[in-house]
Amino acid sequence: MMLNKRDMGTTVRICIISSSVRRGRASHRAALYTRDLLKKEYGADVEILDLLEYNFPLFEERLKFLESPPVEAVSFAENVRNADGIILVVPEYNGGYPASVKNIIDLLTDEWRKKPVAFVVVSNGPFAGSQVIFSLQFSLWKIRALTVSPALRIPDIETILDENGIPSDKVDMDKRASATIKELLWQIEAKRRMF
Ligand SMILES: Cc1cc2nc3c(=O)[nH]c(=O)nc-3n(C[C@H](O)[C@H](O)[C@H](O)COP(=O)(O)O)c2cc1C
Repeated sequence: MMLNKRDMGTTVRICIISSSVRRGRASHRAALYTRDLLKKEYGADVEILDLLEYNFPLFEERLKFLESPPVEAVSFAENVRNADGIILVVPEYNGGYPASVKNIIDLLTDEWRKKPVAFVVVSNGPFAGSQVIFSLQFSLWKIRALTVSPALRIPDIETILDENGIPSDKVDMDKRASATIKELLWQIEAKRRMF
């Protein structure tokens, strides 16, 4: 399996979408952790697209039909379009994903098509956001993204990762995260060979 920069022959560009816009959010820790792992262990070119920083309005229409789209939305779309793969970091809210995530799924169209997408799902309890995977998977499938399995599931987020995304048990965390990242990189490589 071709996995890292050296094996793949070229740098892989990955955008991590950090989706919680909640004050005091914890799932952003998972975005920081994943970014650092991808950079250090896989030599990837990584950028976090932070929905808190974008501060998007609730979009009433898809980007391509907006008469005066916000420049931030255009930039976000270009980042998604130009990424080889996307990692969506999503906390579970009432068994589903937050409204901020639906806002950006529905904003874009062809940017999602055949885009390799991995999920990092998070909760502050023992179940690791397992239920949110169903709705995420379905929406991304509908829009024709190439979703990868397994998702990285992070329970007890505030115990497992500190505010800087440093894991309490690095060996275990890296092992579980790598299972997801390797599948994403496989999908990216498979897509490259098709075009
Ligand atoms: C509106 C809301 C609904 C939630 N629903 C769930 C849930 O269904 N299952 C779960 O395990 N945790 C649930 N939680 C707990 C979150 O997983 C936890 O607060 C997590 O830290 C949220 O991510 P964030 O801090 O980045 O926003 C909920 C939290 C909020 C704010």
